[in-house]
Amino acid sequence: MLEAARPLRARTFRSASGAPPQRGAFQVSPAAPICRPPRPASAGSPFPAGRRHAASFRRHRRFAGAALAAALLLLGCRGMPSPYPPIHLNPNMDYQERYDPQEASAFFYNGMAMRQPVAGTVARGQLDIDHRLTFGRDDEGYLLEASPIPVTGDLLARGQKGYTIYCQPCHDERGTGQGILFERADTPTASLHDELRAGYSDGRLYDIITNGSGLMAGYRYPLGVEDRWAIVAYVRELQEERRTMQAEREARQ
Ligand code: HEC
Repeated sequence: MLEAARPLRARTFRSASGAPPQRGAFQVSPAAPICRPPRPASAGSPFPAGRRHAASFRRHRRFAGAALAAALLLLGCRGMPSPYPPIHLNPNMDYQERYDPQEASAFFYNGMAMRQPVAGTVARGQLDIDHRLTFGRDDEGYLLEASPIPVTGDLLARGQKGYTIYCQPCHDERGTGQGILFERADTPTASLHDELRAGYSDGRLYDIITNGSGLMAGYRYPLGVEDRWAIVAYVRELQEERRTMQAEREARQ
């Protein structure tokens, strides 16, 4: 009784002779599982060595026989059609409660199991937008020559604001491509005034702002459609200013 009531941790094993253990011998540490101390050499199996082997062999033979019988049983079931559904040992994910399309539901306030799509949702392939405005392309897919938005003072002001925030850091205030990228990293940044860029159509400029070009990233996410067209208008104005300036300089010479 006393032995059983003692906490496990305090339990020690007595040696075969029943003498109290030596200090440290077979002490069970708190973390270690309690296990049987090794048998002293004198105390062995009740069977002599030869008979012990025979018993182990019989045990194994019984186990092998059971395994063979189980395998035969399982193999025997192969190819036997059954009208019943198979036995499902873990059906938790296969059979779940669900609503069928158009089913009624007492859970939702309007009694419908199907939910309305979020306002403004557009099904794939059903986006009805103005391609000229959004992509800067005509119905055949060619880039527009002229902006679809009439240029007004407001639009130019808006374009200047957008240009200052999104373009000026690299293309500089005048659009000559001498911005911070060129200054500090020696990165060739296009001038918006060279012959090539000055000759771009409005649609082309819009496409470059939208999708980027070469090293330059696109600005379709930070800038809305109208903001991009406004920047196109402002770039056009910068180009026009520079042309007038050059013409005046040439006239003076
Ligand atoms: C982070 C720096 C950076 C910003 C900001 C930037 N650009 Fe550029 N841009 C470049 C570089 C660099 C190139 C040259 C790209 C190349 O040649 O690979 C370039 C090229 C261009 C070109 C000529 C592209 C071509 O294919 O000929 C245009 C036009 C242009 N940028 C307009 C703009 C406008 C408008 C904005 C503002 C919305 C803008 N960029 C903002 C760095 C910038």
